[in-house]
Amino acid sequence: MTGQNNYSISQNPDVRLLGKMLGDVIRAYGGEKLFRQTEYIRSTSVDRFRGIEGAGESDRGLGALNLDDTLNFVRGFMLFSLLANLAEDRQGLAHEEGATVEEAFARLKNEGISPDALLAMLSNSLIVPVLTAHPTEVRRKSIIDHKNRIAALMAMRDEGQSSTADGDDIDSAIYRQIALLWQTRPLRREKLFVTDEIENARAYMQEVFLTALPKLYMRWEKALGARPPGFVRLGTWIGGDRDGNPFVNAETLRYAVTRDGGTAIRHYLESIHKLGAEISISSGMSETPESVLALADKSGDLAPSRADEPYRRALSGIYARLAATHVALIGDSPPRPSALTGEPYAGPDELRADLVTVAAGLAKDGDGALSSGGALGRLIRAVEIFGFHLATLDLRQNSDVHERVIAELLRKAGVVDDYAALDEQARVDLLLEELSHNRPLAGAWTAYSEETAKELAIIRAAAKAQTDFGRQAITTYNISKTESVSDMLEVYVLLKQAGLYQIGEDGTPSATIMSVPLFETIADLQAAPATMKAFFALSPMRALAKARGHQEVMIGYSDSNKDGGYLTSTWELYEASSALAPVFAEAGVAMQLFHGRGGAVGRGGGSAFGAILAQPQGTVQGRIRITEQGEVIAAKYGTVDNAVTSLETMASATMLATLSSDPIDKADVVRFKAAMAELSARAFTHYRGLVYETEGFRPFFRQMTPIGEIATLKIGSRPSSRTASDAIEDLRAIPWVFSWAQARVMLPGWYGTGQALADFGDKGLLKAMAGEWSYFQTILANMEMVLAKSDMGIAAHYAGLVEDQALSQRLFGRITDGWHDARDSLLDATGQAHLLEAHPALNNSIRLRLPYIEPLNLLQIELMKRYRAGEADERIGEGIQLTINAIATALRNSG
Ligand code: PGA
Repeated sequence: MTGQNNYSISQNPDVRLLGKMLGDVIRAYGGEKLFRQTEYIRSTSVDRFRGIEGAGESDRGLGALNLDDTLNFVRGFMLFSLLANLAEDRQGLAHEEGATVEEAFARLKNEGISPDALLAMLSNSLIVPVLTAHPTEVRRKSIIDHKNRIAALMAMRDEGQSSTADGDDIDSAIYRQIALLWQTRPLRREKLFVTDEIENARAYMQEVFLTALPKLYMRWEKALGARPPGFVRLGTWIGGDRDGNPFVNAETLRYAVTRDGGTAIRHYLESIHKLGAEISISSGMSETPESVLALADKSGDLAPSRADEPYRRALSGIYARLAATHVALIGDSPPRPSALTGEPYAGPDELRADLVTVAAGLAKDGDGALSSGGALGRLIRAVEIFGFHLATLDLRQNSDVHERVIAELLRKAGVVDDYAALDEQARVDLLLEELSHNRPLAGAWTAYSEETAKELAIIRAAAKAQTDFGRQAITTYNISKTESVSDMLEVYVLLKQAGLYQIGEDGTPSATIMSVPLFETIADLQAAPATMKAFFALSPMRALAKARGHQEVMIGYSDSNKDGGYLTSTWELYEASSALAPVFAEAGVAMQLFHGRGGAVGRGGGSAFGAILAQPQGTVQGRIRITEQGEVIAAKYGTVDNAVTSLETMASATMLATLSSDPIDKADVVRFKAAMAELSARAFTHYRGLVYETEGFRPFFRQMTPIGEIATLKIGSRPSSRTASDAIEDLRAIPWVFSWAQARVMLPGWYGTGQALADFGDKGLLKAMAGEWSYFQTILANMEMVLAKSDMGIAAHYAGLVEDQALSQRLFGRITDGWHDARDSLLDATGQAHLLEAHPALNNSIRLRLPYIEPLNLLQIELMKRYRAGEADERIGEGIQLTINAIATALRNSG
């Protein structure tokens, strides 16, 4: 939006170009008056941030906006941020240092680790990004699609092209896309349904992951000089995660599995069709191996034109069988039905075997290139990693629900009247007894409560999904709020009701779905090692884990943060992981940690590469799963190139964290850990003191931040609170973090840490930790980014919204003091004069946005006042939602 005066604080030429075009669009479509108003507010704000004296002190131009102008103005600023993000992402596409596979291999080689050792590790590895529908993506898909189209056009422009393949002038095409963006409604009108969320994620799977992963494997194969096993796969929660989401049920699970599976199968059909067109080898021109001839003969393809083309005939037969598989599993014919009839494949392995036969034949003909790489090689790889299911869907439910369901099942089966009244030991004994035989509790003719019936239906749907789409379709059942062993056993008892847990003839248990604890409060994290030790002490459970070879534990970043504050959460996650490793080693079971983290720092966000490398030594054993949610999905997996980079980063970090040795001296680690324990204890006291122990904190928080308004955003299918209470404990972590971000306090990203650092006596030790310990560096780096995005001056305006101003000043005063402590201590420990001094690119990026955010914050506050005063105009509510959207876009993180 650089106007005539070409006035931009960005050095990035793409930001300038897109900003100028946006200005032109606003003038053309919004009119001269809106353009001038916007330009005035923008330049005044930029001047203020540049420290130009007097700028905007008396008039920032906001007062002159009527409600319609306000909505248009906010849209303009939101789009500017969107385009600035786009421009930066194009530059940021480069890897973080050390994050390419080549770099990781080179580093490991330097440390004396051979390619064979690396391959051996990979054969026991599993690295999975797990897509969730956690509601933090504020942008509509249409807006993201326009943005991606502009990015593609910018890439052509970089290559020196002046027109598109269709002959359109590139700059005009970009302008047209921006004009479309301007005229596209940014807010969703309708509530999102679970099926919408499934479809959104499916679009990424279809357009990005199906292509990106096989492509990446080819790169690894080249770098390793050998074919690696399928160690990176895709996961999803959408349609199976019903913790606090009443709309997820057996029906959504069936929908997700069928839609995802159908997408994979149709992708394979399309690829086979293309291969059929390509592989025109005639038996007259080349000798065909018996195996291929046999496949060709089995195909039933009798077309005379293909009589001498065995590969085409073989592929027609494969196509026919796969089309029949589509009919059998999905319930209808694929878009291009087969002219032949074929038996459906029993599973993806059979399909793979046929494809390998074709590939081996080609290789024998000397065309090795086609079989190891190329379209056929990529297809074989895709079938290996995506199977007929595409992404592994997890189940998730809260332990409270399981407890009620199991209690009802036990009562109605006449086993025990009041399960809830039993103590832990009695529960464990009873559940183990249930797990020692195959007689089910659930009766086909028994009437159950709605809740129990729903839970039984979903596990039955899970069993059917496994039968139809293979074991990999569903492998894991995550239990929110796991406190004890009985929470994990309850899930196995539940799974047993659908045959997913069974006792074999020889008395050994087996389970096709793993019961996985999610530890997410500070107390539960602290108890996690003991809980797992007790779990492994139960012989059937140890037998199950040993037979599987690994056991997963999920750790929750957001809820532990909400419970204990930033520093304590980070520390307890570290401590729990460290202490779990020997428990697993003793049980002889590989540990697989599943990190439940979001994009914002208060929810474990920050660089994935740094985060994985900062894990305690010995806790990443080649196996890791990580949630990917909300705005992070578009940022990391929006295009095939982005996805390849992100997945490569994740895999490289995992390999390094598993095999590379910790460069820090052991004695230092001991000192550093002792210091962290002390810091964490202090930070915890400060954080809990404010959030849970200060009278009046709840109304202060509810009135100061737009928490109530955020709940009205249509960005997810689930409610924003698990219960009707307004206790912080019951609020979900996402709106908690989201609302503090909007008010520019970002409290979950730092509160308590500053005071702890400031009170800590040995400043030299803090400096040493900041200089040498990657774990502590990551903590500080993430906090620094958050501090740079926060603004206590703007936050003070939000504090003005609180009715009891004496209370507000008291509490906000504590927050401001804590903020200054955090900043000063961080600068001292890292030896910087100002925040982000050592990270100029990030500093520039944030500084570019700040002048655009402040007017949005001020307008949001104004609108909130009017809304809360009961003004009825619906444009006020819309305006608030737009400002939330615009601020989130500019901050690049929602909640
Ligand atoms: P949850 O997720 O509320 O679904 O447990 C928390 C988060 O991702 O922040």
